Amino acid sequence: MAHIVATRPLIEGGLSGLREDHALTVCDPPEGSTRSVDELIALADGADVLLSVLADPITERLFEARPGLRMVAQYAVGTDNIDLTAAEAHDVAVTHTPGVLTDATADLTWALLLAVARHVPAADRYVRDGRFERWETTLMLGTELSRKTIGIIGMGRIGTAVARRALGFGMDVVYHNRTRANPTIERQVSARYVELDELLATSDVVSLHCPHNADSHHLIGAEALASMKSSALLVNTARGPVVDEEALVQALADGEIAGAGLDVFEDEPDVHPGLLEQDRVVLAPHLGSATTDTRMRMAQMCVASIQAFLEGADSVPHRLV
Ligand code: DGY
Repeated sequence: MAHIVATRPLIEGGLSGLREDHALTVCDPPEGSTRSVDELIALADGADVLLSVLADPITERLFEARPGLRMVAQYAVGTDNIDLTAAEAHDVAVTHTPGVLTDATADLTWALLLAVARHVPAADRYVRDGRFERWETTLMLGTELSRKTIGIIGMGRIGTAVARRALGFGMDVVYHNRTRANPTIERQVSARYVELDELLATSDVVSLHCPHNADSHHLIGAEALASMKSSALLVNTARGPVVDEEALVQALADGEIAGAGLDVFEDEPDVHPGLLEQDRVVLAPHLGSATTDTRMRMAQMCVASIQAFLEGADSVPHRLV
């Protein structure tokens, strides 16, 4: 019987498959915003498997301190918090949850985009504050999306799902990616590959769906923002550090772009105070995958990976290391 430690509770019933066969410890959420490596080392005492989330720093020091740890099952598709090289060096398997959060994240991208384009949070506050006295001809005029161009940076699973939705809104789709998407996908979502400069200069909406790495760090900085249309909207449901938040605050204040919808932040859970003051910014607390269906599927994927690993299966689903 293996000892599995989940660093925080998951969706109700998500781990029921594990409870029957193994010793499962589900930790309370951390007291602060995240746990330190030392706190994780303490939690992982006697653990064979750690079920982690993006906020858990899974570092070499943890692997050194807990040599009995055999597997990390990450409850996310991204593994930005895990030192994969160290995991490999310490012979610790790492799995994640790709694929199942594509539609949920694409939906949230559109929710943020529509909310910014049509002032939804401000409109809601207006009505609740009792300020809706009569229909006004010029109240909260927004941006129409039909016949506009959406520029997608990162044409992986989520970028493609966002592009598919854009067709329903009658938008033209351009995209930029490290490598060009396969022609079938381009055809299916009527997307045209363009260089990054062209995408930034011509798009009415710029939507980010690339991973965060050395190449994409602050990809959207002062220069990129200055090259965008002053009417453009930026949406980020990818990773916070892809955007230079300081530069974004300045660009919004200077009217270099018209608005932004942000689900992710450079230093989560902290949010740049300048963003909190901006009217044309809609903010969400990293909710991309936050639907009941998706979170349940993510839990089931973790369970399947853990079970396969503990049974010694030749192929462990969604294994990265
Ligand atoms: C992921 O899975 O990487 C998301 O960002 C967290 O839900």
